[in-house]
Amino acid sequence: MKKNIKIFDTTMRDGEQSPGASMNMDEKVRVAHELEKLKVDIMEAGFPIASEGDFEAVRKVAKAVKDAQVAGLARANMKDIDRAWEALKYGACPRIHTFIATSDIHLKHKLKKSRDEVVEAAVAAVKHARKYTDNVEFSAEDAVRSDLDYLCRVVEAVIAAGAKTVNIPDTVGYAIPSEFGKLIATLHSRVPNIDEAVISVHCHNDLGLAVANSIAAIENGAGQVECTVNGIGERAGNASLEEIVMAIRTRGDILGYTTGIETEHLYPASRLITHITGMVVQPNKAIVGANAFAHEAGIHQDGVLKEKSTYEIMTPESVGVSHNLLVLGKHSGRHAFRERIKELGYELSDENIEKAFVRFKSLADKKKEIFDEDLDAIIADEIIRIEEKYKLLSLNVNSGTISDPTATVHMEINGLAKEDSGTGVGPVDAAYEAIARMTETKSKLVRYSVSSITSGMDAQGEVTVRVEEAGKTVLGQGAHTDIIVASAKAYINALNKLEYRKQKVWSDLP
Ligand code: KIV
Ligand code: ZN
Repeated sequence: MKKNIKIFDTTMRDGEQSPGASMNMDEKVRVAHELEKLKVDIMEAGFPIASEGDFEAVRKVAKAVKDAQVAGLARANMKDIDRAWEALKYGACPRIHTFIATSDIHLKHKLKKSRDEVVEAAVAAVKHARKYTDNVEFSAEDAVRSDLDYLCRVVEAVIAAGAKTVNIPDTVGYAIPSEFGKLIATLHSRVPNIDEAVISVHCHNDLGLAVANSIAAIENGAGQVECTVNGIGERAGNASLEEIVMAIRTRGDILGYTTGIETEHLYPASRLITHITGMVVQPNKAIVGANAFAHEAGIHQDGVLKEKSTYEIMTPESVGVSHNLLVLGKHSGRHAFRERIKELGYELSDENIEKAFVRFKSLADKKKEIFDEDLDAIIADEIIRIEEKYKLLSLNVNSGTISDPTATVHMEINGLAKEDSGTGVGPVDAAYEAIARMTETKSKLVRYSVSSITSGMDAQGEVTVRVEEAGKTVLGQGAHTDIIVASAKAYINALNKLEYRKQKVWSDLP
């Protein structure tokens, strides 16, 4: 029988540490439900002591999730562990994940502790966490750059103290696959009590080797991998969940492992993370990129038409990419619409289906072909929205090569209708000037990006903006066939998120 590898998803914790990828509480709960559908074994929901917001998010996720373990991160000290447990304790299957660095570089420059002091802190942390739960994971931060004898000593000590999972992170993405595989094998041969814990790995992608290192570790005895959807995470990111899972599945012939992941949910999960974080997946990204299953060269197209396996090592359907890209058109009715939405993995109330259907009909009037990505954008734009203080009612722009661009914006603000006009160097600038004045925002627009969701002249444009106020950053998104309307929607979405954030207390890491 094939050995099962546990998938520990850290999209909501390490993934959220990507610049600009922060998620609010409701967004984390949405991600958690998507990860449940994916059937991850463990999901790390956040770092409870980091902020009030993170604490609340972990608490909500722990309470909401029934079919997976929920982990909360804590440094190796009593205060962090108590706080993590406070957030996790009502969950169905909580895990405390405590960590301390073990490399001499971190000990000397960051912790200013001796090796003996670090072992002592690690053991005390594990013992303290074990008073709350049996499900305790310990991570030796920067394990790859740690002295091997010392790492063996730490691993043995934390297992003896009661850690059921011991994680060996490549915190700075420094390892080479053969070297990392050997490290895991050495731990197995040298740590006498190693069989009492699951060995986990957590690889960062600074050299682009995070997935390769994770696979090498699995081949050498690791039983858990930590990874993120779309590979988001600190700096160059973490090992990508979808790539690890599909490597294990596709190369089962030589790897001989399985995971519990329902791979048909990989693509919907990837789309959701893109929508929530605003971090767009590169088109040539393995498994979930727009071109991952596109065959451009004539010789390839010819081969695939004759026999798919000529150029396809896995089917698009197996990762949840619909082969039936052209899904609906203007003559499609409610029934077909509802079915397609369900197939895409959304569970919407009747009221939300109706809202999305109205948007779909209006899009179908403007655009001949409606793709799955268009439906994703409609749902992200129309349904997955936070409480809105600001709403766009209408927008009219005047621009071209003769007159200065002007925009007239009609909005609802706190339930009251308002109208104003702006001018600018372009129509988006003009609309933004009017919106900024009407909302009296003090925020600064720090990033604006636009991409086309589908192909063709009538494609929907998706705009992502990053807006900052008093050190807090939020992302806003908007989609529409008219790029100026999409831009206005994205800006207003960001302003609504800022308002939402302001109502929450976000303190800094103590
Ligand atoms: O990269 C790392 O070392 C981490 C630990 C906290 C597990 O994220
Ligand atoms: Zn990490």
